[in-house]
Formats: sequence, structure tokens, C-alpha cells
Amino acid sequence: MNIRNQIVMSQVMLPHQANVAGNVHGGEIMKFMDTAAGAVAMKYAKANCVTARVDELEFHLPIFVGALVTCTASIVYVGRSSMEVFVNVESEDLEANSKPEKALSAYFTMVCMGKNGRPQSVPEYTPETEDEVKLYQEAKAKREKKGK
Ligand SMILES: CC(C)(COP(=O)(O)OP(=O)(O)OC[C@H]1O[C@@H](n2cnc3c(N)ncnc32)[C@H](O)[C@@H]1OP(=O)(O)O)[C@@H](O)C(=O)NCCC(=O)NCCS
Repeated sequence: MNIRNQIVMSQVMLPHQANVAGNVHGGEIMKFMDTAAGAVAMKYAKANCVTARVDELEFHLPIFVGALVTCTASIVYVGRSSMEVFVNVESEDLEANSKPEKALSAYFTMVCMGKNGRPQSVPEYTPETEDEVKLYQEAKAKREKKGK
């Protein structure tokens, strides 16, 4: 996808990230997604950002210890002080001859905070590429539906 405001973070899942069944704990993935969303929001806003909302998360696949998990976080919509960040997660078995598989995705609403502890405005955003326009329209419609 051709998106200008995007970061990609990958990590190999380690044994300390497992649940009692030995698979990766879902909370570890949620934290990783939140970290990626925060990083792209802070890079865009050039200031501290907090998580205000996460839309629903649906885990499509189990993720195993040893898998390479990649979070791609993209700015898709910008309000006055808030940013909608779409985070896509893929999991890849490094020992198999297979492609990364989509594990889950979610929208994070990140809010830029000023030094006074109140929301502060961020640079305006105009989608330019075809991918940005499509994602912008989807995020705008979602936001309008939720009234935020
Ligand atoms: C997010 C937070 C700063 C919003 O405070 P607020 O007093 O509602 O601020 P405002 O009404 O000025 O809203 C600021 C922006 O956040 C958006 N926003 C606030 N609450 C939201 C929510 N629940 N969902 C989506 N967007 C939200 C508003 O739409 C607004 O966007 P805009 O400036 O782009 O128009 C405040 O609720 C907060 O500090 N929450 C805790 C955040 C945090 O600590 N997260 C980590 C938890 S460990």
C-alpha cells in the first residue's frame, strides 16, 4: 500500500510472552499494536499521544512462540487533536516456507496531548494517494457513525 504516514514494527515472539497453553498471550499482541499506533501518532504529531479508543479486536489465528509478528500502523484520518490509526498485524512462521498471514487488525484513536495535559491540535492531513483516500473515507464514515 502507498501510505506516507506509516511505520512497520516486527518482533519474534518469545517464551515469556506465552499464555498457560503455550501460545502467545493476546494481551502481548494488543500491547504491541498500541505501541505501534502510539509511535506513528507521535511521529505525525511531534508530541506525546495517548490512546483514547480501540475498536473491536478479533483474533483470526493463534500466534505461536517463535513467530515473527509484524504490526503496520498507518495514519488514516486526522481530526483537530485526534488521529485514527489503522493497525494491521501479520504473523509469519520463520521455519516454514509460507507467507505472512493476517492475524488481526484494529483502529486506534490516538489523541495528542500538550504539556498542559490537555489535547493539542495536530497538523492538518489531506489524503493524497489512492490508498490514503480509500482509508480516509472508510475511517471518516466509521467516525461519523460513532459520533466521534
Ligand atoms: C483522550 C482524552 C485526552 C480526551 O479528553 P477530552 O476531555 O474528552 O478531550 P476533548 O473532548 O477535547 O477531545 C479531544 C479529542 O479526542 C477525541 N476523543 C475523546 N474521547 C474519545 C473517545 N472515547 N473515542 C474517540 N475519540 C475521542 C475527541 O473527538 C477529540 O478529537 P478532535 O480534537 O480530533 O476533534 C481523555 O479522555 C484521556 O486523558 N483519556 C485517557 C487516555 C490515556 O491515558 N490512555 C492510556 C490509558 S493507559
